[in-house]
Order: sequence, then C-alpha cells, then structure tokens
Amino acid sequence: MIRKTRYIIFIFLALIAIIVILCFVRLSPNKDPNEVQYVIGMSQANLTEPWRISMNQDIVNEAKKHKNINVVYRDAGGDTEKQKKDIDELLASGVDLLIVSMNDSEKLTPEVSKAYKSIPVIVLDRAVQGYDYSLYIGPDNESIGRQVGKYIADLIGNGKGKILEVQGLLNSHPVVERSKGLRDVISNYSNIEISRTIIGEWQRDESEDKVKEILQQDKDINIIFAHNDYMAYGAYKAVHDLGLNNIKIIGIDGLVGENGGLDLVSKGMMQGTFTCPTGGKEAIDYALDILNKKTDIPKKIILRSDKITASNVNGYLNNKLKKTEEHKKIVLGYAQLKSESKWREVNAKSIKDAAEKAGVDLVFLEEGSTQEDEKRMIRELIKRKVDVISFSPYVKSGWDDVLKEAKAANIPVIISDRNVDSDDSLWINNIGSDFYEEGRRAARLLVDLFKDKKKVNILELKGNEGAAPTIDRTDGFVEIIKDYNNYNIIDSYYGNFEYNDGKNIVKNYIKKNPNKVNVIYAQNDDMALGAIDAIKELGLIPGKDIIVVGTDGTKEALVAIKNGEMYGTVECNPLLGVQLIRTAIQVVDGYEVPLRIVNSEDIFTKGVTNKQIFEREY
Ligand code: AHR
Repeated sequence: MIRKTRYIIFIFLALIAIIVILCFVRLSPNKDPNEVQYVIGMSQANLTEPWRISMNQDIVNEAKKHKNINVVYRDAGGDTEKQKKDIDELLASGVDLLIVSMNDSEKLTPEVSKAYKSIPVIVLDRAVQGYDYSLYIGPDNESIGRQVGKYIADLIGNGKGKILEVQGLLNSHPVVERSKGLRDVISNYSNIEISRTIIGEWQRDESEDKVKEILQQDKDINIIFAHNDYMAYGAYKAVHDLGLNNIKIIGIDGLVGENGGLDLVSKGMMQGTFTCPTGGKEAIDYALDILNKKTDIPKKIILRSDKITASNVNGYLNNKLKKTEEHKKIVLGYAQLKSESKWREVNAKSIKDAAEKAGVDLVFLEEGSTQEDEKRMIRELIKRKVDVISFSPYVKSGWDDVLKEAKAANIPVIISDRNVDSDDSLWINNIGSDFYEEGRRAARLLVDLFKDKKKVNILELKGNEGAAPTIDRTDGFVEIIKDYNNYNIIDSYYGNFEYNDGKNIVKNYIKKNPNKVNVIYAQNDDMALGAIDAIKELGLIPGKDIIVVGTDGTKEALVAIKNGEMYGTVECNPLLGVQLIRTAIQVVDGYEVPLRIVNSEDIFTKGVTNKQIFEREY
C-alpha cells in the first residue's frame, strides 16, 4: 500500500515537474528563432487595382523570407471610413508596426498621426501631410508624368500629336501629380495637344467603354496615355475592336504576369509603360530594421521608374525574374570633398565605419575640393575598376561627362549627400537630405519668432556657390519668408560652409553696417558659430542683439542653443554610411534600388537638454 502511495506521489510530482518545464519553455522568449516576434498590420486602400494586389503580393513574398514576422492584412475596399476602422482595429489588436497605403491621404492623415503616437508607421504610395510617420516609400509621380511627356514628344517627332488621357480617380494625388508632369512637358510642344481627358477609375472596363465612345467621335487621336496599365489594357481592347491600329498606347505600372504592363509591351499591345514599383519589398525590409531598432532609418524613399518599350522589355523581364541570393564582396570607390565642416568629417567617418562593418572594401579618396579635383578622383576610381562609385558633388551642375564615362565603364554611381542636375539615367541612386525643406524649416523657425516686429533684416550666409544645399536652402527659405512683409534678406554672401568665412563676413558686415542686422541665417553650423564669435568680438550679444539660426545640428550648435547664443538649427544628417553601403551592396547583387533616399531630420531650438547634447553623435 505504502509503495503504491509512494509510486502515485512520484508520478504526481513528475507530472508537475513536466508541466512547470513546459510552461517555462513556452514563456521564455526567443527560444525558437522561427517563432513570430513581431506582428505587422498592413492596411490596404483596395484590392481591385492590380497594382495594389501586386503591392500586397510583394509584401507577402518578402515577409515569407522572415519567420519572425507575421503580417495581418486589411482591405478597405476603396472606402476611407472603412480604412479608418481597419487602422483602429489593427492598433487595438496590438500590432507592432503599421504599414498603410491610403485611399484618401488627406482624410486619413489624422488617423495615421494617431497610430504614429504609439507604434512605428510606414506610409506607402500616397504621402500624408506633415511628418507624423516613421518612413514614407513611394514613387515620384510628377517625374513619371514628365517622363511620359518626353516619350510622347519623341514618338511624335515633327508630326502632329493628339492625346487622349485616361486618368484614374478625379483629383487623386497620383493623378494630379502625373498630369502636372505630363502637361509641364507637353506645353513646350506646339504640335502636341491633350485633346481629351477622361476618368477610367483605374479600371479596365470603365476605360474600355469610355475610350471606345471617344474614338468613335474623334478620329485624329493618335496617342492614348492611361495613368495605369490596367486602363491601358482596356484602351487597347477598344482600339482593337474598332480596328484603329495607328494609335499608340502608353501606360504606367509595368507589372509582371499575364496582361501586366510588361506582358502588354512585349506582345506589342502597348507602345510603352513606365514602371511604378509598389514599395512592398522595401516596406518589409525597413519594417524589420525599425523593429530591430537599427539606427539611421531614412524618412523618405523615392522609388525609381523605368521606361519600358519593345527594345528593353525582355532584358527587364529577365532581370526581374532573376533571383540573386548570393552576395558578392564589393569594392566601393568614394570621392569625398576636402573637409570644410564638422558635417563632412562626421559624414566621412560614417561611410568608413559602415563599410568596415559590412565587410565592403572602400577606396576613399579625399584629394581636393573643386569640381575638377572630384572629376579626377572619379576617373581614378573608374581606372581602378571598382564595383560602385559614390561621390558628394561639390556643385549641382556639370557632371554629365564623368557620369557618362562611369556608365560606359559599366560602373553604377550613387550620388551621396548633395544632388546633381544630370539626367537620372546617368546615376543609380541619390542618398541625402531634402535641402529645400531644410531652408523652409529655418525660415519657419524665424517667422514664429518675430511675428510682431515691423522690420526684420536678415543677413544670409550661404554655402559654396552652385552647391545643391546652397541653392535649395535659399529657395526653400525664400519660399516661406516671401509671405511675410516684415522679413527682408538684406544681403547674402558665400561663406563656403566654413567657420572662418562665416566669422569674417559677419565681422566686416556689422562693422560697416552697425545696428542693421537682426538675424543671421547660416546655411551650416560652422558658419553660424563663426558668426556668433564675430558678434561677441564686436561687443554685441548673440541671441539678444542678433539672432542666429544655423543648419546641420552639430553638438557644438546644440551647446550654443543651450547657452542662448544660437536660436535654433535645422538638422542635416551626415550619417549616410549605413544606407549608402546597403544600397551599394544591393546594386551589385542585382536588386532594384530606390531612386532617392532622404534622411530623417529634426529641428533644434530652445529647450535643448543636456541629455540631447550628451547623446548627440556629431
Ligand atoms: O552637403 C551638406 C552640407 O555640406 C552641410 O550642410 C555642410 O555643413 C557641408 O559642408
């Protein structure tokens, strides 16, 4: 009996032990690397447009590669109110990150802001207003419209062009932007007119019916441009039914699969299409980076659009279907400007650190600071046959020759930091800041400060002549202050982004024009700090007698703000290394890379804390 009881107690204790062990195993996190760690909510505007189906599919395909994420999908069916509810439900269910592609970006902006207060949000395709999101990924619709316009002009040549434009939904963002781009170009050609514009609601049948009706009335139409390939396909059916084989049809999207844009071009049913990548793959890649708390996440990613015609469709399709899983060891050649500022020092370090971490061989040349010096360095990199070239262009214009040489040598070029005005067929990607927006932000800081003052005299310290940040920051700044009668840029000087230049300009100017300047707007913090020292040396008090606003957001500038000597600074993020190296590797591995990657940036003014200064990386 005692033996039996002991036996029962033993079994009972063993069972308890097993249960405890099982519970422990279940509760301890990350035991299984394949276990779902993150749930991502994906709120889609509708799933009636093939492009949106393709976006979801891109997300599915990319998410499949990562066992630790689960994506929960919601389809709003084209109903904005339903999409609001979808987002609320996803939030209530506790998703870790939201991806949203909006039906109506204006009406959904507050919903997205609300979500962003609690979790990271990636906005796809249509941008929200303001900055309440983690990352925006989408196409440049205006540029797509311009590319379409140029293509039509090439097709028409000296003949007469009569275009039927088939738009998606009336006044929707992509429609407005694409139409603007198209019209900007077409308005330069007196032999081409947009004779009719109709609404195809992004749908094939709607387009087919309306196009048929119009073609029966107007026999001179010789180009149909549809804002997506699905409507272009409808237009093709109408054209085909009426036996009008002289009409050329152009679309947008370039999807793969039967009757996708690429298929229609390769079958000769469409003259050409312009790709509009969905961003689904990138959304998952960056969602993981955000969830894994990686640093240097950009704020905006603009995707590249390629022109696809009969001449390149097969090559494009082959590339698209090619699966590259192997990673080649790469050599990146970088031509850097001589360090004119703190920004550049940090920028160079960020590139070197990221290359080392990723195991990329970096040939880093820093031999001069003129455009000719840079061209010499780039030619040297071409000679050395590096896999990818990157450089920070001293000025915006005049790069075509050397970019063409790199292209001829089959070396892709990533434009880093500043941008160029060369055609984007000559470079593969541009990583950097939105300098125009930085100028606007600096002006907004000031207009808030001097609301009631009758006259505000601004002395502007520009960077080097012809540089993208110089041109764009001035333009952005002026765009904002021109609406305020009391603001006046009394003088502008090139301070070349250097401390000494900033200091000398300000000292001489104030000596010659005492009591004239109220504000100094410096296009970088080095010049702003130079200006502050000049003001002090002249016996004046910076922050009281003269207000100084800088650009870059360096640690030294933050200290000056804390001390009350600088009013504020607009961040220009130099930490481009991680994104640059990632892009260079992707290019060599054969992936499509975004056209433009824009940094995430902040504004610093009163209220800067010691903690912020202490934690500042540069
Ligand atoms: O191109 C970035 C600009 O160049 C920075 O704002 C400035 O400090 C730098 O030298």
